[in-house]
Amino acid sequence: MIEPDFLHTTRTAYDSMAARYAELFANGLADFPLDRAMLSAFADLVRTDGGGPVADLGCGPGHVTSLLHSLGLDASGVDLSAEMIAIARTAHPDLRFEVGSMTALDLDDGRLAGVVARYSIIHTPPERLPQVCAEFHRVLKPGGHLLLSFQAHDDPAELAEPFDHKVALAYRWSPDRVSDLLTETGFTETARLRRAPLEDERQFPHAHLLLSKASTP
Ligand SMILES: C[S@@+](CC[C@H](N)C(=O)[O-])C[C@H]1O[C@@H](n2cnc3c(N)ncnc32)[C@H](O)[C@@H]1O
Repeated sequence: MIEPDFLHTTRTAYDSMAARYAELFANGLADFPLDRAMLSAFADLVRTDGGGPVADLGCGPGHVTSLLHSLGLDASGVDLSAEMIAIARTAHPDLRFEVGSMTALDLDDGRLAGVVARYSIIHTPPERLPQVCAEFHRVLKPGGHLLLSFQAHDDPAELAEPFDHKVALAYRWSPDRVSDLLTETGFTETARLRRAPLEDERQFPHAHLLLSKASTP
């Protein structure tokens, strides 16, 4: 199958700067208390519902996968970039990491109790987002939880606004429109956090959406 250009471009870009990206997160999410709070709430919900495998999609160097593991989850990571996966495997040899794409996951239907996608949809062209949401829905079991994080914008008339990202063309998203799309896909929003940018995060707000897949198929 021919790979879409955006996947090739994103992979190549992250392959070339994987080591530098990993250095940025050498402290994990120590500087992101609100992001940690949402990940902790996600982990609580998954555990309360009986646990099960959780995938960190677009895991980069694996710092979030490792945090999910420390929160008691059976967490593994998937990333487009083989360099990111090599770094993640070296840094966290006790955890599983695989190369793959959120657009077509090598996972059975209903396999997962939870999915985290932290800033990994940001290079997905808006017309491809429904395909990614459908993959999240397919791989989650009924009642499974999704935590989706991204740079946000406040114009609900636009699903996405492109911005000039350091790595590759990226999009910030309307939380309302993304939530609507996920609702159409079969999710229900549980909670959301909109936080102000930190000092070195430019001036964009950040959104964290927590949703669950309907319990009855
Ligand atoms: C901004 S980084 C975020 C990394 C990590 N989740 C974090 O929170 O720091 C985006 C990551 O998503 C990965 N990615 C982008 N598109 C992807 C796709 N379609 N499937 C899997 N990974 C993807 C990139 O290779 C990169 O490692």
